[in-house]
Amino acid sequence: RRTAILISGRGSNMDALIAAASTPEFPAEIALVASNRPEAAGLARAKSLGIAVAAVDHKIYAGREEFERSLQIVLAAHRIELLCLAGFMRLLTPWFVEQWRGRMLNIHPALLPSYRGLHTHRRALADGVKIHGCTVHFVVPEMDEGPIVAQAAVPVLDRDTEETLAARVLEQEHLIYPRALRLVAAGALRVEGNRVLGAASGA
Ligand code: GRF
Repeated sequence: RRTAILISGRGSNMDALIAAASTPEFPAEIALVASNRPEAAGLARAKSLGIAVAAVDHKIYAGREEFERSLQIVLAAHRIELLCLAGFMRLLTPWFVEQWRGRMLNIHPALLPSYRGLHTHRRALADGVKIHGCTVHFVVPEMDEGPIVAQAAVPVLDRDTEETLAARVLEQEHLIYPRALRLVAAGALRVEGNRVLGAASGA
């Protein structure tokens, strides 16, 4: 399946997805990396890897709808079938989300439904939780909600700072996102309400 990755920044998850998809039997092909920030480091990186890139700068559009219509045109031009949000920092309208229902994934640096939103590691440390982690989920109009495809847990250690905890979680993000994309692209999953069935691989 022709897949686009949407980013806003560094793009380490993008890198992990590109690496996984470069193996011949992987069921998704990364056909495009698009960013709402033209200066995103990940965009230059994708380009250097020979992947088609597009910058759709949200700042030049009058509103979210105009920005998203432009993004849709780019995605259509590249015949994109699946979307992976990877550090994409724009809220998407219900209109856009509807176009991609069941075909758009996001990675969130927390064990949803805990810690939706920003600064997840800081908040987890402040709460004193002992287990933290990351989640890949289908995107629905509500932010950081939607059927969960894969999760990974990490321990929170006494000596952890926001940075060390983030790094431990990020390592897991790079493992579960390719795994989740593989299952979705292979059509291996069935969604029943909020439950995703078929991901019985221990992820
Ligand atoms: C990741 O922690 C991801 O979970 C969150 O934003 C960060 C993006 O990092 N949504 P990167 O750009 O993939 O390196």
